[in-house]
Amino acid sequence: MKKLVIANWKLNPSSLKDAQKLAASISIKAKNKVVLCPPTIYLSNIQYPNIGSQDCFWQEKGAFTGQVSPLMLKDLKIKYSLVGHSEKRGVGETDEMINAKAKALLAQKITPVICIGFGTTVEHDDLEVTDILKSQLDIDLGGLDSSKVIVAYEPVWAIGTGHNATPEHAEKISIFVKTKYKVPTVLYGGSVNLGNAKSFLQQTNVGGLLVGGASLNAKDFNQIINM
Ligand code: PGA
Repeated sequence: MKKLVIANWKLNPSSLKDAQKLAASISIKAKNKVVLCPPTIYLSNIQYPNIGSQDCFWQEKGAFTGQVSPLMLKDLKIKYSLVGHSEKRGVGETDEMINAKAKALLAQKITPVICIGFGTTVEHDDLEVTDILKSQLDIDLGGLDSSKVIVAYEPVWAIGTGHNATPEHAEKISIFVKTKYKVPTVLYGGSVNLGNAKSFLQQTNVGGLLVGGASLNAKDFNQIINM
């Protein structure tokens, strides 16, 4: 079955030329569905079938210095936007803000990819993890149609560390989010690489992957999207 693989380039690469080169080297005929999320400043200059933003603001327009609105993203034919990434939550983004962003995106028919998992530790057991995720999702999904969003479970301790969660844990969390919140697609993210990607994609309820570091390596990423 076709799964969804989202590339989160974060603050990379450092030039438009390199970003275009990277996008051009990613297969457009992969086995899985692929979305590339380049830095905002490159969004209008990257050619790829599915492009996503790494973030957005919740207002359409006005006096909001430095922000990018879902209305602007829609104008660029952007189809997805991450919201609530741990690297944003870590600098003060709240669940209320994430909820407002998701609602603003849905109003423009852009699919929010709501990232959860900030605040979890490797020592937490499954019940403690689901309690934390519940406290996030109860607010993140408040008052919106959860069948229209994607959730990405990224345990914060696994992001960029080389220490991934187990595929069985990702499967359990995916089942929890799908059943309790009626979210159709739940992705796993956090140190996904060429060596472990398949084990996550093989899980029945893991709908795909959110890939950071490994998405900057075209050779590795092309293999991951074809698993
Ligand atoms: P990583 O990042 O794959 O480099 O761990 C994932 C993410 O933060 O989305």
